[in-house]
Amino acid sequence: MKVNDSFRLMPPSYLFSEVAARISAFRNAHPECEIIRMDIGDVTRPLPKAAVEAMHMAVEELASSTTFHGYGPEQGHLFLREAIAEHDYRQHGIDIEADDIFISDGAKSDIGNFGDLFTPQTRIALTDPCYPVYVDANVIDGRQGVLADGRWSNIEYLDCTPDSGFLPSLPVSSPDVIYLCYPNNPTGSVMTRQQLQQWVDYALRHKVLIIFDSAYEAYISHPDIPRSIYEIENADTCAVEVRSFSKTAGFTGVRCGYTVVPRSLSVEFADGSSASLHRLWNRRQCTKFNGASYIVQRGAAALYTPEGKAQVRENIEYYMRNARYIRQSMTEAGWEVTGGEDSPYIWMHREGETDSWALFQHILETCGVSSTPGVGFGKCGTGCLRLTGFNTYENTVEAMRRISLLY
Ligand code: MLT
Repeated sequence: MKVNDSFRLMPPSYLFSEVAARISAFRNAHPECEIIRMDIGDVTRPLPKAAVEAMHMAVEELASSTTFHGYGPEQGHLFLREAIAEHDYRQHGIDIEADDIFISDGAKSDIGNFGDLFTPQTRIALTDPCYPVYVDANVIDGRQGVLADGRWSNIEYLDCTPDSGFLPSLPVSSPDVIYLCYPNNPTGSVMTRQQLQQWVDYALRHKVLIIFDSAYEAYISHPDIPRSIYEIENADTCAVEVRSFSKTAGFTGVRCGYTVVPRSLSVEFADGSSASLHRLWNRRQCTKFNGASYIVQRGAAALYTPEGKAQVRENIEYYMRNARYIRQSMTEAGWEVTGGEDSPYIWMHREGETDSWALFQHILETCGVSSTPGVGFGKCGTGCLRLTGFNTYENTVEAMRRISLLY
């Protein structure tokens, strides 16, 4: 049996698995050390009460023969799709229908799975640094070319550096698909409405599909920063939007997210005939996915009640207080810092640092604080680190104290 050669080409482990393995090795060698995790964006606050109660009720419903039901719709239950369309879009003046929304077990799966709709020749452009799933999923699907100096030859990397406020320039290679994530993971940078408009205009002009990852939109507080790509006119004809309940409602372990694939978005088959992306994604989902758990979807829907909304807001404010604290402490300790304002991530660099993994290891071993090495998100992250605001406030303060003592 011959297997997919792409697996030989990729780094042996996924970024966050490698980080976890190194933390685990250090913990085993130093069981006395209390490690503060500021690496993967995993939340620490318990689930909002509204979601917990709704999930309890859903379990009871399934526990009784009179109210039990099995498979749900592959696209997700209408009660959740309606709630999303109303609260996340229509109430913000955005015309998205329940039917445009596909519920899933999380944004990561949707981002990875969307490649099922592309061809091996589909040309990809993505920011550097970026969430590693954008790269790895395309490598698994064989759209990468050869690896040279940390980059795949068939992927266009859009450099994001301090000079441009970590925002990319438009592509030069005429890609078919562009991955964008704002507020950005990992740099915490944001795009204004005007800046995002340029990307939508570009996509419309060149018939490019934008995969817009807005997993962190709830962290935006500045009014000029769009929370959805559909705030930009005609984006519904060139963009899909991926969102998650992980970082808003603590669903990292519960698993639920959604992708908006507007009915108005049409693409082309190889012979130039047009196809509805919505129809293709629906076909893909019906074939490979049986829908997210009913219990989880009930929990997610409860987040849109007045109590649920208030509890989510409280979570976000809690994490943003951490993020601001990190930003301020690290700035005072002499790091160049971005993020932590409309984003839970803080991206940092120090003059003279050129090896992210060595820096990661040094801070882990001397401070007992874990981070994510910037280079794991791409070559432009060389020498950088990413911290998250998702730990408890007390741990965040302690972690900053430890790192500040070091510098
Ligand atoms: C991150 O730390 O970048 C995220 O938690 C990863 C994810 O959401 O899969």
